[in-house]
Amino acid sequence: MTYIQLHTPIPGPKSREILSRRAANMPAGLAKSTEIVVEKAKGALVWDVDGNRLIDFAGGIGMINAGHRPAQVVKAAKQQLDKCIHACTLVTTNEPAVELCELLNQLTPGNFPKKTLLSNSGAEAVENAVNIAKYYTKRPAIIVFEGGYHGRTLLTMSMTSKYSLFKKGYGSFMSEIYRLPAPNMYRPFQGMSKEQYLQHSINQLDHAFIAQVDPSAVAAIVVEPVQGEGGFVPMPTAFLQKIRNLCDQHGILLIADEIQSGFGRTGKLFAMEHHGIVPDMICMAKSMAAGLPISAVTGRAEVMDTPHPGAIGGTYGGSPVVSAAAIETIKLISDPKFLKRAAQIGEMIRRTLEGWKKRYPLVGDVRGLGGMRLVEFVKEPGTKTPDPDLTLEILRDAVSHGIILIRAGLYSNCIRLLPPFAITNEQLREGLRVLEGAIERAHERR
Ligand SMILES: Cc1ncc(COP(=O)(O)O)c(C=O)c1O
Repeated sequence: MTYIQLHTPIPGPKSREILSRRAANMPAGLAKSTEIVVEKAKGALVWDVDGNRLIDFAGGIGMINAGHRPAQVVKAAKQQLDKCIHACTLVTTNEPAVELCELLNQLTPGNFPKKTLLSNSGAEAVENAVNIAKYYTKRPAIIVFEGGYHGRTLLTMSMTSKYSLFKKGYGSFMSEIYRLPAPNMYRPFQGMSKEQYLQHSINQLDHAFIAQVDPSAVAAIVVEPVQGEGGFVPMPTAFLQKIRNLCDQHGILLIADEIQSGFGRTGKLFAMEHHGIVPDMICMAKSMAAGLPISAVTGRAEVMDTPHPGAIGGTYGGSPVVSAAAIETIKLISDPKFLKRAAQIGEMIRRTLEGWKKRYPLVGDVRGLGGMRLVEFVKEPGTKTPDPDLTLEILRDAVSHGIILIRAGLYSNCIRLLPPFAITNEQLREGLRVLEGAIERAHERR
């Protein structure tokens, strides 16, 4: 039996009709990586409106680590819908929001008193974390990294690195944001060994405090432990440790942006746990409520408590329905059996991808951490020249054969794999075979 079942080309007639309505009514700037029009989804499978069944390797950009529609999450949300949909945490208190904050305070790294602020999107979580860090430290500046992605609000877009796709046309941006190089071990500087390159990247952190900004002006260093949109670039432990040390030395807060890497994606609840390095604040969103919109910042209680009453919050943050769903999602994901399975899936993908790297010269690199895995396509392995057109060709070919995919990377030349961990081994193997088929065809066309 195959899980992928295609009865029409993708997009089929009904999909095409809805896509033309989308084009007529939704802005062109809201680009999409596929022409799939979704009817329903369960586990790792997605049905489109033409009755085709596909395997999901994108999870709505890492939103669906727990799988599409886990029964206990749906039940909790439905039960809460029947009680109260909204009461606003700026007006009243609801128990699901309080319980969710208790859970996050308990599960996030760090053995110190913590508090949590709930909001709605990843960008909002990052904004809140930065604002609170500035308020606490009474300092204006923040440090971010090349390749980083933090969202599309003015502050988070200013923090985001990749210009052409995310920032072009939107200047001017916010000041007091200092962007430092981050090590991408696939692309060390010419003439440097990997070790020398990593040491150079670490030295750049010290150098920045002379060349760019005085440490006494820096409120926070914001880092993704595995860069997401930047191309699943894992930050080496030594680099993160140096950041932690500098923060401790200069009274700077370390903010981990775990919006894409969190909630089991790397095989641990949070990617920072792989390094044993504890951030002062952690930003979370995406897979937190199995697809419902929610985000959070959890941080040291003394930091989180600094802004004056009324200085933080919003209308939707702490929605009882979404909080109830998040509680069940997080209980499911934090189960050691779930995390073990996530790591196992990551290992299966890693082994398969390593094979592709050996077989196909157009595969320049395969990398990631746990179940956060990616393939980078280049014109040739020697020059490592990125090949975004070929990447798009491979993606479109694979999607037309029944898997859902998205790209990533500073050069848009990577395909990232974010399958729901509800995926079975058979589904995973089938999806990987489809992607390999597209790579093989591209290889033969060369
Ligand atoms: C690491 C990271 N930070 C922040 C964001 C922004 O999240 P949102 O799109 O929910 O605003 C994203 C989204 O992809 C992300 O991957």
